[in-house]
Amino acid sequence: MTSNEITDLLAKAYIDELETVMNYLTNSIVLDGVHAEEVKESLEADVQEELEHARMLGERLKQLDESPPGSEEFEARQSSLQPPEDTTDVQSVIEGVLEAEEDAIETYQALYEASGEANDPLSEDVAVTILADEEAHRTEFRGFEKEFPTD
Ligand SMILES: [Fe+2]
Ligand SMILES: [Fe+2]
Repeated sequence: MTSNEITDLLAKAYIDELETVMNYLTNSIVLDGVHAEEVKESLEADVQEELEHARMLGERLKQLDESPPGSEEFEARQSSLQPPEDTTDVQSVIEGVLEAEEDAIETYQALYEASGEANDPLSEDVAVTILADEEAHRTEFRGFEKEFPTD
């Protein structure tokens, strides 16, 4: 048995991943300066991983006889990941990424719990697989954050 809670979480996560793809891609293009290169490279690599997450979530929705959402259901939420006015402001992008990753981790923890309650091991597996990637992203950007201490 699969609950609506699971399909709602899968659809929400699908949209979040695609918003993340857009903002990581944009920031991987716009940042400037000597401190930007590693962050840009990391964002570019993460774009591929976040897109793969969206694919996994969409495939699971399909298996549950639901369609992943199209763009008309999209509502932007990542205000802290908009490209910075000052394109050398790498720190603001790092903070935005950490916020997005925290948010994703919360969503996948919720999906993990709902899957356990509904006895849906495949959705649970998707949640655990993606959760591991998001925690790795957070760890990487926590590392970047150490080079840009907030005062
Ligand atoms: Fe992701
Ligand atoms: Fe991520």
